[in-house]
Amino acid sequence: MLRQPLLMIARSRRIKELVTQLPVSGGIVARFVPGERTADVVGATRDLVSDGRLVTIDFLGEDTLDQHRADATATAYLDLLEALSREGLARSAEVSVKLSAIGQALPVAEPWGSEATDHTIGAKLSLENARRICQAARSVGTTVTLDMEDHTTTDQTLATLRELRKDFPETGAVLQAYLHRTEDDCRALAYEGSRVRLCKGAYNEPERVAFQDRHEVDKSFVRCLKILMAGQGYPMIATHDPRLIKIAGAFATRYDRAPGTYEFQMLFGIRTDEQKRLAGVGERMRVYVPYGDEWYGYLMRRLAERPSNLTFFLRSLLSQK
Ligand code: FDA
Repeated sequence: MLRQPLLMIARSRRIKELVTQLPVSGGIVARFVPGERTADVVGATRDLVSDGRLVTIDFLGEDTLDQHRADATATAYLDLLEALSREGLARSAEVSVKLSAIGQALPVAEPWGSEATDHTIGAKLSLENARRICQAARSVGTTVTLDMEDHTTTDQTLATLRELRKDFPETGAVLQAYLHRTEDDCRALAYEGSRVRLCKGAYNEPERVAFQDRHEVDKSFVRCLKILMAGQGYPMIATHDPRLIKIAGAFATRYDRAPGTYEFQMLFGIRTDEQKRLAGVGERMRVYVPYGDEWYGYLMRRLAERPSNLTFFLRSLLSQK
């Protein structure tokens, strides 16, 4: 399997320097990221909405280690929400937020000069920033979903979700089927009004916490999906996998769920025909659209998922020489 080695190689600074020289407009980057500017993502959103798809937008960035940048990311979301509202797109487009981009991973300098991650400070800052974004989203008539990152952040992210939901119960959660814990998390979150995005999971996780075999991940996805579809919440089924999409349809019938009481979600640029087909048969279909200049981590996770994308990617790199 290429996935884990690729995700490990992606951490190399030299590889990152080489890859980030690629222009966003064209080649492999543009396939997954419509652009770096707010105007680019608003344009992409308009196109998607015009043919019946919904959107969730991610302002790219993760593992932010300084407060100024964390605050600037939150402000970028506020600007984006304002732009969506101005363009009449806010009812069709929500935002997805990584807590590590708005302060969760912030380290603090200790008195004796070394640096350590203080989860209380990072958690407090990311909660404050998330509140600002939730408030702005609500005021333009849309919602926020908290993306889920690697397993070391799961508890903190769910704790932040619980806090946010006291004032903004519409805030969406993400659960990753590859984690052993996720069936329990699904049970805990399958209550009325609870928006839960279920995905397979995109990080390089150890055996101790996550299924390694893709068939085991798929089986876990089905068990989790069953809990969510049988429950009282609003499941958001985030997969491109044809078998899982079919199974979701069967659960919708079994649990008497009308279209509109759950939704499908896919990533920008992946299985576009299937996105259109689902929207065309009356399903709610939401596309996750990332934008911004911090596209490196996102691109590497997409490449790691599908080795055949690598050929295209290597060609893009060579054509820069
Ligand atoms: P799988 O990877 O098995 O792919 C099934 C099929 O889909 C493939 O055979 C192929 O046809 C197509 N496909 C999938 N990936 C492709 C690619 N990169 N290029 C081309 N074709 C591809 N993860 C996470 O850890 N935290 C999160 O918050 C989120 N959020 C999120 C939101 C949304 C809307 C989606 C769709 C996904 C996420 N993910 C995520 C990513 C998710 O965990 C997972 O890594 C990807 O969705 C790929 O898994 P699939 O379920 O599509 O199956």
